[in-house]
Amino acid sequence: MAEPKENVLMEKITSLCKRRGFIFQSSEIYGGIQGFWDYGPLGAELKRNVKELWWSTMTRMRDDVVGLEATIIMHPAIWRASGHVDTFSDPMCDCLLTKKRFRADQIELQSGNAYHYNGAKDTVSGKEVSEPYAVLLAAGKPPESARKTAAQFYAQRGLQSVELLGERMEKVEGSQRFNPENGSLLTPPVPFNLMFKTYVGPTATEADVAYLRPETAQAIFAQFKNVHETSRQKVPFGVAQMGKAFRNEVTPRNYTFRSREFEQMELEFFIKPDEAVEAVSGAVATPASKGHPGEPQPNWGWQLWHQYWVEERIKFYEGIGLPRATLEEYWQKPEELAHYARACVDILFKFPFGTQELEGIAARSDFDLSQHERCSGKAMGVFDEELRTAFGKLPPEKQTELKDRYYAARLKYLTKMGVPLDKAGAEAQEDADGLAKGQYIPHVIEPSAGVDRLILALLANAYSETTKTDDKGKSETLYVMKFHPRVAPIKVAVLPLLKNKPELATKARAIFESLRGHMMAFHDEAGSIGKRYARQDEAGTPFCVTVDFETFEGIKDGPQAGVKDTVTIRHRDDGKQERIAASELLPWLLARVR
Ligand code: GLY
Repeated sequence: MAEPKENVLMEKITSLCKRRGFIFQSSEIYGGIQGFWDYGPLGAELKRNVKELWWSTMTRMRDDVVGLEATIIMHPAIWRASGHVDTFSDPMCDCLLTKKRFRADQIELQSGNAYHYNGAKDTVSGKEVSEPYAVLLAAGKPPESARKTAAQFYAQRGLQSVELLGERMEKVEGSQRFNPENGSLLTPPVPFNLMFKTYVGPTATEADVAYLRPETAQAIFAQFKNVHETSRQKVPFGVAQMGKAFRNEVTPRNYTFRSREFEQMELEFFIKPDEAVEAVSGAVATPASKGHPGEPQPNWGWQLWHQYWVEERIKFYEGIGLPRATLEEYWQKPEELAHYARACVDILFKFPFGTQELEGIAARSDFDLSQHERCSGKAMGVFDEELRTAFGKLPPEKQTELKDRYYAARLKYLTKMGVPLDKAGAEAQEDADGLAKGQYIPHVIEPSAGVDRLILALLANAYSETTKTDDKGKSETLYVMKFHPRVAPIKVAVLPLLKNKPELATKARAIFESLRGHMMAFHDEAGSIGKRYARQDEAGTPFCVTVDFETFEGIKDGPQAGVKDTVTIRHRDDGKQERIAASELLPWLLARVR
């Protein structure tokens, strides 16, 4: 999708994020470093809340998922097995005139008249350059500007007085071969591996090359056997991990959306191959309809598990304040799928700069564990007693059918990975015989989310502004970050109505102290109460608690007249106020912010 040149809403969000301490440019005092961002005090809280909610939803609240916290640098063989060393690349090209680098597949399609030159000659020295070059102009534009650009190009090659040679015009439709900013021809695209390289040990030789992980997923596969053996989990079960990942993006862009250092929240949910499910349950259940398929069942194959995780993840996003209408599901087309994937659904969010991916949920077959088994020589399969027993009771023709299907799937994988046919046939036969004895390599469903792009989605979704004009015609714009209370950086601000009344200030401080051990609370005495509310609105604080005279003197009117020790709660989104007993405040807040 083409990136709008200017995005007013994004500029406003970026400016608020800097002004209020959500996000800063990394290394800003040295001019910044492209593709790296820091989270300020409010951003750090927002991010921590999101990660804790994900961790709690995905692990602590489930019986069938456990956690992992692996290192960022791992044995480089992991990245050879995963395919990242050979294939984790983006096509890049450079402008032949300015040297600016582009991701070749993200260049907007252009049409017009391309002016080609065979080379150029220096009219003074007679020197000739025979390097071809071209410039694209919008249809109808006279060729002079193409000639001017081409002359600059050849001047860079040492010609002073340039005579262009062999000009010819070609009509061009939907091309990505020219720089959209100046029309100059680009270099042909070449793959650019996105992994950051480093050295482990003091020699800095090729033998010591290691990589900063480009995803958290691979550690889960590499540690699968250890986790399986120590966690007392049985397939189906999942392993969750979140943490930093690094990709040397050719063109980081859209603020924090595509950064070079970012955080992921990934689950690898291991399931039985469909042949094993069929052997145990008699048949694999087929998805009956769209939507959430309900509680997991033993007869689910990969399709229902995949559908289940898509729906669970959408539920998660709705639960932290992204309305369904801001999300889209995109089912990747067969030609878009990674070669090992059976299906992949992207959950997209409608960002101000376009609808873009928040999370991908991929059905990755048994590719990952199979690769690590092949490359490490360590068995990655599991033994399933229930399967062994069930298989033994199947009629012979059913046994043959299931073994044949498993054999065909294993053979397809092995031959695709370049194992010679006779060896692959023997290994696939061994795998099929293993299935009958209760052994298999688990398949996996992978919900993989980006923390930073989710933070950006939450910021964009929360942003709101209203401009008010007073009687004197003076206007003021008020900003409110309407975060869901579960993710809001500050849950409650405690404010004495007046700073210079000691009883109000002391009471407010005491209330703040009683809350801060339970949630992120803030205490603010400075400025008018209106200004303090506005500051909290910009921070996205859902509740402000005010200690005022009625706290001590008692409620003046209404059915509760005379009741003392109460506070006012002011709601961020509509400014409405209510009064509750100070002793009720903590449970009242906990019920709303968790
Ligand atoms: N593990 C999938 C990804 O990083 O996109």
